[in-house]
Amino acid sequence: MNNIIHLTANIKTIEKYLDSQSWLKTDEKVTAIEVPGDGNMNFTLRVKTNKRSFIIKQSREYVEKYPQVEAPIERALGEAKFYEFISHYSSLKNQMPNLLGVDNQNYVLYLEDLGNGTDYTFLYEKGRVLKDEELSKIITFAADLHSDLTRQKTEITLPNCQMRELNHKHIFIYPYLKENGLDLDAILPGLQGIAEPYKTNERLKGNIEKLGKRYLQDGNSLLHGDYFPGSWLKSKNGIKIIDPEFCFFGEPEFEIGVTIAHLKMANQPEEIITKAIRFYKERAPLNEELQQQFTAVEIFRRILGLAQLPLTIALEKRKNLLAESFEVLITMENEINHSVVYR
Ligand SMILES: Nc1ncnc2c1ncn2[C@@H]1O[C@H](COP(=O)(O)OP(=O)(O)OP(=O)(O)O)[C@@H](O)[C@H]1O
Ligand SMILES: [Mg+2]
Repeated sequence: MNNIIHLTANIKTIEKYLDSQSWLKTDEKVTAIEVPGDGNMNFTLRVKTNKRSFIIKQSREYVEKYPQVEAPIERALGEAKFYEFISHYSSLKNQMPNLLGVDNQNYVLYLEDLGNGTDYTFLYEKGRVLKDEELSKIITFAADLHSDLTRQKTEITLPNCQMRELNHKHIFIYPYLKENGLDLDAILPGLQGIAEPYKTNERLKGNIEKLGKRYLQDGNSLLHGDYFPGSWLKSKNGIKIIDPEFCFFGEPEFEIGVTIAHLKMANQPEEIITKAIRFYKERAPLNEELQQQFTAVEIFRRILGLAQLPLTIALEKRKNLLAESFEVLITMENEINHSVVYR
């Protein structure tokens, strides 16, 4: 690992690095660098030059914001593959930044700058509601991705196993550990008491484990893998999709399940949820029962797990979402189809 260049926020060293990659044009000089927006996992930088601006993103063997937490160092390369695969589909490509270059040696992406937008995490704030047009774009992107990039249509593979294993721990395991280092009452007083009966319910945990195995199994469609408001960018040219570092071939129900969970936690009107499903089903098939199970799991893990969100919903609303999710998970009967292994 010693010969990997460790990028730092220093104009001179960044310029030298960009030069070594031949990513700078003739007479191009770096004039400023800045953090482009909120991010935890990677070292992400906006580089401004005398000619333009662009983004560079380096993955390291740890989580940038929490260096004590290990993470797969090669994740930028999985993300790059996603950009390469979708580049043949203009409707998908137009909704993402262009990938301008990849440094396979140092795990760095060189991306088009979509400008000074913000991601959609503002949706968790009170009173913020997605416009139909935005919802349609978000759902259409996912439906097109899931139906354009399938096993039947492409030879490509993208197991992204290490990232999936990392996500699996956060979604399906850590929230249910007796001691996971998280003080839920510090997040919202009363949350610990609400969580307790769920954390000790063996039937619930058994069903969540089954869904976890399903998540780890390869599926038929290319998924973005982290399809929530943090990956949707409000740019001056409309909504754009970023950060597919958790991508893999899986079941679309996982992706849409996650999206719906976030719409619910962002307290979007029921009408928005219904429309989201309708928009999706107009373009691609969806097993709603399975989608609801993944929605339930995502609600559980975001309310009780380590990857907390800037939620503003009150304790009572969280309690109701958990109760609703519990009903879905406790009554589930789906069995895993072990014959589907593509990896
Ligand atoms: N191509 C881009 N154009 C403009 N802004 C961008 C671009 N890529 C990233 N950003 C900004 O940088 C932020 C962090 O980027 P990104 O989400 O890709 O990093 P990350 O480290 O993977 O974050 P996370 O920890 O949320 O996974 C984004 O929320 C966005 O504000
Ligand atoms: Mg990310």
